[in-house]
Amino acid sequence: MQDYREYLDEILVSSDQLQTRIKEMGDQISRDYAGQTLHLICILRGGVLFLTDLMRHITVPLTIDFMAVSSYGVNRQSTGQVRITLDLERQIQNLNVMLVEDIVDSGYTISAVLDVLRTRHPRSLRVCTLLDKPERREVDVPIDYRGFSIANKFVFGYGLDMDEYYRNLPFIATVDLKRYRPDG
Ligand code: PRP
Repeated sequence: MQDYREYLDEILVSSDQLQTRIKEMGDQISRDYAGQTLHLICILRGGVLFLTDLMRHITVPLTIDFMAVSSYGVNRQSTGQVRITLDLERQIQNLNVMLVEDIVDSGYTISAVLDVLRTRHPRSLRVCTLLDKPERREVDVPIDYRGFSIANKFVFGYGLDMDEYYRNLPFIATVDLKRYRPDG
């Protein structure tokens, strides 16, 4: 497997920048939900690191659950086809639900998940994403909390993978595709 240092172009968001922003987001969410409870739903797998850091900064009582969907076809092209591969453990009726995502790209994933969750009658339903790539949007989605708006570059680290590896990096980096060997 090719070492990421061979194709890393630049560190787009450092670990310090991530942690500072995530604390700000947690503080904002805590203020917005003061006196209420919150049910965080993380969409696997990219959102896991963000969820675990974000929830440490939220001070209102909260619960968590997980969903998995398949959203990308081959060659990292969004297909518009989204299928639930792991559904929630708990019912969400009457809960303040917040979807926690690592990135909103075309918007198909969040849009499809919102459609499903709305049919289950949560008390409220909001979207929190660490990264937003607005240039790539194909379907309009409401984003209530956004960590960073980024350019249309391929990124990895902090939950986002390169062929499934390197989700554990503490920063978000861009890829120099000229130096990347998929089979390397
Ligand atoms: C990524 C990301 C979002 C989705 C965003 O997931 O975590 O769920 O794509 O793209 P969209 O806005 O174009 O739908 P991916 O399918 O790569 O799975 P992963 O989280 O397991 O890496």
